[in-house]
Amino acid sequence: MKKTLLLPIDSQRPEMEKILVAAGFIKRGGLVAFPTETVYGLGVDALNPRAVRSVFEAKKRPFDNPPIVHVGQVKDVFALVRRVPSQAEVLMKSFWPGPLTLIFERSKIVPDVTVAGLNTVAIRMPRHNVALALIRESGCCIAAPSANLAGRPSPTSARHVLDDLYGRIDAVLDAGSTSIGVESTVLDMTVDPPQVLRPGGTPYEALKKLLGAVELHPVAVAEKELAVNEVRSPGMKHRHYAPDCDLIVVEGETSDVIGKVKQLTELYMKKGSKVGVLVTDETMGYYRADVVKSLGSRRDLAVIAKNLFRLLREFDLEEVDIVIAEGVPAEGLGLAVMNRLRKASEYKIVKTIRS
Ligand code: TXA
Ligand code: MG
Repeated sequence: MKKTLLLPIDSQRPEMEKILVAAGFIKRGGLVAFPTETVYGLGVDALNPRAVRSVFEAKKRPFDNPPIVHVGQVKDVFALVRRVPSQAEVLMKSFWPGPLTLIFERSKIVPDVTVAGLNTVAIRMPRHNVALALIRESGCCIAAPSANLAGRPSPTSARHVLDDLYGRIDAVLDAGSTSIGVESTVLDMTVDPPQVLRPGGTPYEALKKLLGAVELHPVAVAEKELAVNEVRSPGMKHRHYAPDCDLIVVEGETSDVIGKVKQLTELYMKKGSKVGVLVTDETMGYYRADVVKSLGSRRDLAVIAKNLFRLLREFDLEEVDIVIAEGVPAEGLGLAVMNRLRKASEYKIVKTIRS
């Protein structure tokens, strides 16, 4: 096991000496976890196949699920892709730096392992001074999946990164908790109209407003597991975001949801399970369970998104057997929250029905 170097760093004005240490690792083919506005990423030189292979190994990630390539400037995109559709130019101008990943046809300079053998590449420019400084000083584009063990909730703090990857990576730049808390929106620009493969930090509504026509891939809004032939983004078919304990999501009108969550909680507690409920400020007072955690107010889906992965990890630390989670409205950032919750539950969804 190697020693993982923890480098605390200022998120607004990153100290150059820390960036240079981290960039030194990247240049030598090493692995550095760094903050972005969404979640922490695990970065390597995107054009160094050996380094990219070691990211998959450190995360125990299947080799068929490629990472996102992070660039520091829009002009870095052109060498990585065969062409830039005009709509992509508009999106990059409006949303970069920010939580939007675009899928392009890839150019020959991108190694096969970086794109898992696909003929497309996923690219984004993160909105975080530490990430941008790291890319700049490394002198290369940085391939970075989320810095968690495959299948675990994505890391929104350096603590989460170390819990999963201590001893498996060279360094972590620690700039505190990430501001958005769910990963970037993945938008496929190789189809017309463009299609959202993963809802995330850039709301679908904002894309629609700018582009007019945008589709949601069925898996992005799925309420059940889809057949593998319906899957376009490799990440869609792997288990994801999941705590170790079981998870059930209850969806419906809020007043009905409260009743159903209470009923399920009582049922599992009677069976002797340690039960957690993942709920909201407005409903929290209704529940008696072993562990009660609030995502935040139902009126602020951005706060709910920011807290989601941290709370899923906390339930594991408290060793609950099962979590019963309230669904939230699937609009704005709520669409990403519901996508993650449904996947984490392996589609164990209870819908309340009005009688
Ligand atoms: O916010 C984020 O996107 C974070 C931060 C670190 O930037 N990164 C992240 O990376 O979430 P990762 O590797 O955990 O998720 C990347 C997603 C996966 O679902 C993967 O399948 C998809 O992007 N992806 C990557 N390349 C693709 C491609 N060529 N075509 C379709 N989907 C692709
Ligand atoms: Mg991930």
